[in-house]
Amino acid sequence: MAVQNVKMPDVDALKQACLTDEQAQFFLDNGFLVIRNVLVGEELRLVQDEMTKQYDKGVAGVEDDPDYAYGTGVKTGQKVIRRIEYVIDKSDPMKVLLGHPFILRSVEKLQGNNFIPTWDSMVLKAPNEGIIVPWHRDGGVINGCTDPRPIFNVDFYLDDADLKTCLWVIPGSNLWTQEEALERCRRPRFDTSDATPVPMKSGDVIFHNTLVLHGSPDGDGNPLRRTIYYEFRPGEVEAQWGPHTLEYLPFKQQVLLECIERRKQAPYAQHETSFEYRPTGAHAVSSVRKPDTFRYPHQMFWRR
Ligand SMILES: [Fe+2]
Repeated sequence: MAVQNVKMPDVDALKQACLTDEQAQFFLDNGFLVIRNVLVGEELRLVQDEMTKQYDKGVAGVEDDPDYAYGTGVKTGQKVIRRIEYVIDKSDPMKVLLGHPFILRSVEKLQGNNFIPTWDSMVLKAPNEGIIVPWHRDGGVINGCTDPRPIFNVDFYLDDADLKTCLWVIPGSNLWTQEEALERCRRPRFDTSDATPVPMKSGDVIFHNTLVLHGSPDGDGNPLRRTIYYEFRPGEVEAQWGPHTLEYLPFKQQVLLECIERRKQAPYAQHETSFEYRPTGAHAVSSVRKPDTFRYPHQMFWRR
């Protein structure tokens, strides 16, 4: 079942408006896909600056705020900032980023026109801590769900990741059963014999299926790595299986619509053809109104 050294398609967001059928199929079959040059020029600099501010705030130490999550550095044993939630609420360029037309057209192609943005977070790899991220899936198989459409994260890289420290994935493991995945995760050490590395440049993006096995080795002397995770789910899948309640969906649709509008106003996005969000059926939006907030806490919307 090993599929090492898969030939990754060349996808460049500066040269095409959306994924092609062939590129979309690669993602469905392998569970990951790299898209180069999604964030470039002024937008890349702005987003990096904004997230540096958030990172610095996290490093300085934030108490009594569940949005800032800490771990323990492997080398130093120090408290290190590991994840920051709701980055769209915390920064206007991150709102504009959610409206990115290449990303949204490609999400629509893979998930259908009723897709919903679900999570928005920054994941951090502290510098020089040599943190190993063991093999894992980000989510579990939904028992009983036969909808073949993928649930996935769009990972925006704000820093380069070279061969020594980058993410590794096991191509096609998104199609494995939960038992097969668990068995693979039990192998000792960070075994890469059936895996492929995914080196990245800042501004590049990975689409990664929440079921694809991924992780990263202990890159000695690793630099800081900041990655933005925007997760999307097909509305029909979320409506039937959760994890959020039904009332969550229209709130997040209004957030998405507002972010698309903001992108239309952004000076650095004036050359683009904006994305038109056109949900239908049970997910049709009857009226557009400004959202009351950009932070809808997940735990307020979990199903019982
Ligand atoms: Fe992960």
